[in-house]
Amino acid sequence: MFSKSQQPRVILVTGSNKGIGFELVKSLSNSNDMVLLGCRNPERGNDALIRLGSPPNVHCLQLDVSSEESIVQAKNEIEHKYGGQLDILVNNAACGDLELTVDSARKTFSVNYYGIKMLNEYLFPLIRKNGRIINVASACGSVVLSEASKYLQDQYSLSTLTTRQLNQLVEDFISSVGTNNIEQLGYNPQSLYLIYSVSKAAVIALTRIEARQWSSARGILVFSVCPGFCATDINQNAPGGRHPKLGAESILYLINTDENKLENGGFYRDGQQLAQIGRID
Ligand SMILES: NC(=O)c1ccc[n+]([C@@H]2O[C@H](COP(=O)([O-])OP(=O)(O)OC[C@H]3O[C@@H](n4cnc5c(N)ncnc54)[C@H](OP(=O)(O)O)[C@@H]3O)[C@@H](O)[C@H]2O)c1
Repeated sequence: MFSKSQQPRVILVTGSNKGIGFELVKSLSNSNDMVLLGCRNPERGNDALIRLGSPPNVHCLQLDVSSEESIVQAKNEIEHKYGGQLDILVNNAACGDLELTVDSARKTFSVNYYGIKMLNEYLFPLIRKNGRIINVASACGSVVLSEASKYLQDQYSLSTLTTRQLNQLVEDFISSVGTNNIEQLGYNPQSLYLIYSVSKAAVIALTRIEARQWSSARGILVFSVCPGFCATDINQNAPGGRHPKLGAESILYLINTDENKLENGGFYRDGQQLAQIGRID
């Protein structure tokens, strides 16, 4: 199904009006795939479309991944305007806030974790046989767990972990930010971008659960991926970051690589599988 000569794939990339998602859509716009450029703000989406040169195979889809209402509307639009089926869903949208407050944690998790979880649950029925869901995570998620207690490491990597248990881990973390109990809970308060990193650890764990739950349904594969350190708005275009085009290539690998070369539920960066917990250079 993934050869270029066959019927066009339908690919949705969330949060793709800029940064890595934009570069991914740009690269896919040169194929015969139909690409849905997900954007929470339609003006920013249209502007992105213009910057791409308005290719005929790319369409804006308004989608705020933290809003159930927006997800339902986007699902309706896919059903009524774009054939009602998806081959690939790339959960790229995310936010990063450095403030260590409950409000910041709630906002970050509502996009980076609960947003992905909710969108996947709504769109899973539209994903075609042998389709793929790609959850964009970060190596920060592996590192933050390598600096956490053995108990937390065991919880996040349980082979039988359920979404209910993972939600509890997430909620305990968010509460601990408010009660200043982060260390007692087993996280290292000095870990880099703590809230963002724990949200990405949760995405990597969620991916493993979804892979287990969904592969038997229609052969749907679920992966998580780190695009590598790229200079984008999420890190105020940090010096030393690589071009987001390279981050997009890290995601493209999971879109195009043959399934027998990939492990369902695995976490990848630049074509290499990474450990769920570990220091990564
Ligand atoms: N850059 C890095 O070094 C790096 C490293 C590891 C992982 N990542 C991951 O790579 C992905 C892309 O990040 P990026 O670096 O390209 O960041 P970016 O340039 O800030 O782009 C983030 C995108 O997400 C969108 N977004 C934020 N909240 C949203 C919501 N509620 N609903 C829908 N869209 C929303 C933003 O839309 P607006 O324009 O409307 O804000 C924007 O399009 C993220 O998952 C990020 O965590 C990045």
